[in-house]
Amino acid sequence: MRAPEYRRGSVGEGVLNPPTAPGRLLDLYGEAGLSRTNGTLHLDRVSLPQIADQIGTPVFVYNAEAIRERYRTLHSALAPLPHRICFALKANSNLAVLKILRELGAGVDIVSAGELARALAAGFAADKIVFSGVGKTRNELQAAVKAQIGHLNLESPEELELLGRVAEHERRRVHVGIRVNPDVTTDTHPYISTGKSGIKFGLPTDQVLPAAEYILRHPWLELTTLAMHLGSQIVDTEPFLQGIARLTELVRGVRSIGVDTLRVLDIGGGLGIRYAEERSIDPVDFAAAIIPRLAPTGLTIYLEPGRFLVGSAGVLLTRVLYRKHSGGKEFVVVDAGMNDLVRPSHYQAYHEIVELEERGRPSVRADVVGPVCETGDFLALDRMLPGLQSGDGLAILGAGAYGFVMASNYNSRVRPAEVIVDGDRWWVARPRERVEDLFSTERLAP
Ligand code: LLP
Repeated sequence: MRAPEYRRGSVGEGVLNPPTAPGRLLDLYGEAGLSRTNGTLHLDRVSLPQIADQIGTPVFVYNAEAIRERYRTLHSALAPLPHRICFALKANSNLAVLKILRELGAGVDIVSAGELARALAAGFAADKIVFSGVGKTRNELQAAVKAQIGHLNLESPEELELLGRVAEHERRRVHVGIRVNPDVTTDTHPYISTGKSGIKFGLPTDQVLPAAEYILRHPWLELTTLAMHLGSQIVDTEPFLQGIARLTELVRGVRSIGVDTLRVLDIGGGLGIRYAEERSIDPVDFAAAIIPRLAPTGLTIYLEPGRFLVGSAGVLLTRVLYRKHSGGKEFVVVDAGMNDLVRPSHYQAYHEIVELEERGRPSVRADVVGPVCETGDFLALDRMLPGLQSGDGLAILGAGAYGFVMASNYNSRVRPAEVIVDGDRWWVARPRERVEDLFSTERLAP
């Protein structure tokens, strides 16, 4: 069966995007910290074929300095505003990655008890942790209250009531944010557009004041924050401006009913990066556009970027297993599959694929497919690639965000290793899973 015809999807412009022009490829290399010496691909000063040889493939490799660079650029662009950058841990939750961001002064945005535990394990101060998410359980609310995190963004009246009961039970005063659904349209993949009315996220604007009144009257809750998150991989500033307009209007509304505890305006994450031909959001332009709208509120601005900080900084290394011809097509079968990097099959996302060693063979149009038993297991479709042979190493670019964290054990495949490169040093930040680990807790009988 032929792989379905995917149309241009707006995350990474779709798997069938035409090949990236050489100039753009250089941009992608620059953002990742990739370069070639005598044809060999390096991440910062480390040879990637060397990592592939020593650690095996597939392996995710992250460039520490590229992450720092992204953080510093955004942080300095926002310097005129009191602000905090809370890394959306869901994008990449490796403790070594978290440590890099923590050391720069970042806070962290979490969505589960597991992420809370990771954030604490990585050494984040509790007051720099923000808890978002539409379905927090009682246990999760309780864990966050006990840990005395910075604030929780709440998304429904029932969740708010439950948090009130938890706060009372724990006899702790809890800082609360209301996550607003500002009903803003974003040009991104429908699965990751989160700020439009009619989807599950946030409180509709007409429910915000009643929620604020509830918090105002509650002895253990304090409304410190209004929040939004519009979606992911947004490459335009305009939706942010629309969302900010709705939020600042609500700030006035909330203050007018007597709330004098607001301190934070959380404008979420979603800043897009370049996967292929698309523009990435320019942090300086972005900051210049939002600062004049935000400064008059007098509030501290929180951002929750995930992808922007780590997406470009990571690559997934894989190796060609086989080439085959079938139905008039070329296939390159590699050792990484949809269980390792699900973005191409799940969102029809485009990820640039380059050789670890440039060999100058004539180009071939091929589908790059993984070993998983699904036709939807592909990393690229109809892609012009240099001629490849069994054993050749490849790097899949833009794999630093929503790569390993979305990996699964489907087909009982072990999840890949994760490596950090920092200057000329590198280390395994998480070893490859072992097959034994996959079923060590399973019981054959009661
Ligand atoms: N804040 C909240 C409340 C979020 O839900 C998210 C992402 C972020 C911040 C960070 O968004 P970012 O800056 O990374 O765009 N798996 C998808 C992306 C899902 C994003 C979910 N929420 C992908 O691979 O494209």
